[in-house]
Amino acid sequence: ASSLPIYTQDEVTKHRSVEEGVWVTYKGSVYDITEFVSMHPGGDKILLAAGGALEPFWALYAVHSQGHVLEILSEYKVGEL
Ligand code: HEM
Repeated sequence: ASSLPIYTQDEVTKHRSVEEGVWVTYKGSVYDITEFVSMHPGGDKILLAAGGALEPFWALYAVHSQGHVLEILSEYKVGEL
């Protein structure tokens, strides 16, 4: 069981800029990736997913289907949907 907070999709959608924070969802979890944006090997493309789900983008960019990518993502988990 997780002790992290539950967020609504509305709350996630409010976070789609580096100024307001960049949140994304993946498989029912919520991630605050603000600090990672400038470190992303794929550059600003990461902001296309800001405030929403990673799944459609990661389906297109299969480079993310690797353990080390999920490991990075897991560091930024802030809650559940
Ligand atoms: C590459 C992480 C979101 C597009 C990468 C790599 C990592 C990463 C670690 C390098 C993988 C490797 O070469 O082994 C992440 C994380 C994301 C995220 C943690 C979300 C929190 C996105 C999104 C897009 C995207 C939403 C597209 C809309 C790309 C592209 C590359 C890449 C095009 C290849 C860059 C290159 O090698 O030239 N990403 N990514 N990423 N990412 Fe992301």
